Amino acid sequence: MDLFKLDGKVAIVTGAGRGIGRSIAKGLAEAGAHIVICSRTEKELLELKSEIDDAGGSSTVMTCDVTDEENIQQVVDDTVKEFGSIDILVNNAGITKKAPALDYDLDDFKRIIDVNLTSVFVFAQKVGRVMAKQQSGSIINISSIASVQAVTGSIPYTASKGAVAMITRTLAVEWAKYNIRVNAIAPAYIETPLVEEVKKTRTGFAEAVAKRTPMGRMGRPDEMAGAAIFLAGEASSYMTGETLFLDGGWKAYGL
Ligand SMILES: NC(=O)c1ccc[n+]([C@@H]2O[C@H](COP(=O)([O-])OP(=O)(O)OC[C@H]3O[C@@H](n4cnc5c(N)ncnc54)[C@H](OP(=O)(O)O)[C@@H]3O)[C@@H](O)[C@H]2O)c1
Repeated sequence: MDLFKLDGKVAIVTGAGRGIGRSIAKGLAEAGAHIVICSRTEKELLELKSEIDDAGGSSTVMTCDVTDEENIQQVVDDTVKEFGSIDILVNNAGITKKAPALDYDLDDFKRIIDVNLTSVFVFAQKVGRVMAKQQSGSIINISSIASVQAVTGSIPYTASKGAVAMITRTLAVEWAKYNIRVNAIAPAYIETPLVEEVKKTRTGFAEAVAKRTPMGRMGRPDEMAGAAIFLAGEASSYMTGETLFLDGGWKAYGL
């Protein structure tokens, strides 16, 4: 079980206030890492910090907008100043908005690309410079089943997630010489506030997802933590450039 221990490690998790990021932050903390929790909503981060601390873990709140390069640099600098290293980065912050491709608003398209894709590179680059000096680190990007399968009404979302899979592979190859591993987690539909919003745009959405999923249900946010713990530490020491699909069998399903 030592392979799954993260004692003494320092992790940054973006989009940690809600949903998948929140569960991953709690899981990494339970495995022993100190977690720097980031998002724009301080209230949610303070609640999460209390939960982590009450469970015997340790965490630091740093509010951050991942579309703001200076803000990202500040989080990286403050983390190094306070804790001396960054061992794990989870690029999880993400958004979506549904509209038909023929009508998709260009400002919305650019905003989603900024949050879901550009921030993944900018955060990875800034943390990568620290990890390269350390000659160690693990970066985990949250991609999606939408990286390999079309989702109608989600053109910037699918484009961003497909690109995250390629950023993951390219950085993995480029940074292997620094002993930095870069992998991704690609969930299918997970019961989070983001999916609650999607449900409102389509009646019968939850039932349709359950029917299409071999396991017959959506995933729970807490079911994302185990893969993050695996990718963060020694258990996955020879894995890089990979995307793990956590999808209840969605991708395996043909007809
Ligand atoms: N839920 C699913 O079914 C599913 C499936 C596949 C992939 N994913 C991916 O998993 C990740 C998390 O999704 P989720 O479902 O957990 O979403 P969520 O419940 O809506 O949570 C998203 C988190 O991202 C943060 N965030 C959004 N914009 C941000 C910004 N500009 N700067 C910093 N933080 C920002 C939010 O906090 P603030 O708004 O307070 O900043 C929030 O903490 C996303 O990348 C999503 O694409 C989700």
